[in-house]
Amino acid sequence: MIGPKIYETVAEMRQAVDAARAQGKRIALVPTMGALHEGHLSLVRAAREHAGHVIVSIFVNPTQFAPTEDFDAYPRDSEADLRLLAGLGVEGVFMPPAEEVYPQGFATAVSVGGPAEGLESATRPHFFGGVATVVTKLLLAALPDVAVFGEKDYQQLCVIRRFVRDLDIPVNILGGPTVREKDGLAMSSRNRYLDADARRTAALVPQVLSEAIDRLDAGEEASTVLADGTARLAEAGFSVDYLELRDAETLAPVDPNGTSAARLLVAAKLGKTRLIDNMNVARPTAGWR
Ligand code: PAF
Repeated sequence: MIGPKIYETVAEMRQAVDAARAQGKRIALVPTMGALHEGHLSLVRAAREHAGHVIVSIFVNPTQFAPTEDFDAYPRDSEADLRLLAGLGVEGVFMPPAEEVYPQGFATAVSVGGPAEGLESATRPHFFGGVATVVTKLLLAALPDVAVFGEKDYQQLCVIRRFVRDLDIPVNILGGPTVREKDGLAMSSRNRYLDADARRTAALVPQVLSEAIDRLDAGEEASTVLADGTARLAEAGFSVDYLELRDAETLAPVDPNGTSAARLLVAAKLGKTRLIDNMNVARPTAGWR
């Protein structure tokens, strides 16, 4: 099996992109932090549907981690990642060293508002600034026609769509559906932190989301449904950061009289592992209670 070309510098990747464009190929980028799982691979397959030249970036971005977070412990396994990407026929992998992305004297950051406000930002105020800065750099480095991100990180996807539009970055952002384990747990590189007990308990997160959606569909009052869901998670040992119903595009709190689509989002910590998940909520025609 011929593996993908590995680029460590922006210049090398740009050269490859220019050569692929000269052959009339469209370019897709799938930004990742590695420790790839089936969720990432589904994004790579989606990218392939839109482009003849697919590049995956693997970079554990220090600016989106607070000093108290898991940057050092974040799983890294580039050999396994490259094997998986070779199996999918990816053309290139961008694996820059930290100094290529953040050279000495780096002094710029992309600041985001709108959908970045609240939810994740309440407990991780540094996070979306770091994501927006690195994703802007990756998009400008690879100059892709399309870039694919997972709906698993739904707020991140909304933030990226927003700043790409606000900054007129000429790229089409695609969202890929969350891939789930058999018991419903959303696939995540951080699931590797869960021991067997915690792994079993973690399946409660998607269960709480599904049950809340069923009750909303049945016309129950949203505040009661969300309070019950939060209590169930807390009883099972989670420390819940949020369980909230938001407008699916702006992520503003839902307007009870509105008609736009909604999203139910959750973040909860089980021991040291923080899990996030979200699901689409169809609007009842009669509106919310
Ligand atoms: O979702 C991720 O893996 C990261 O936040 C991203 C988009 C690759 C930026 O570092």
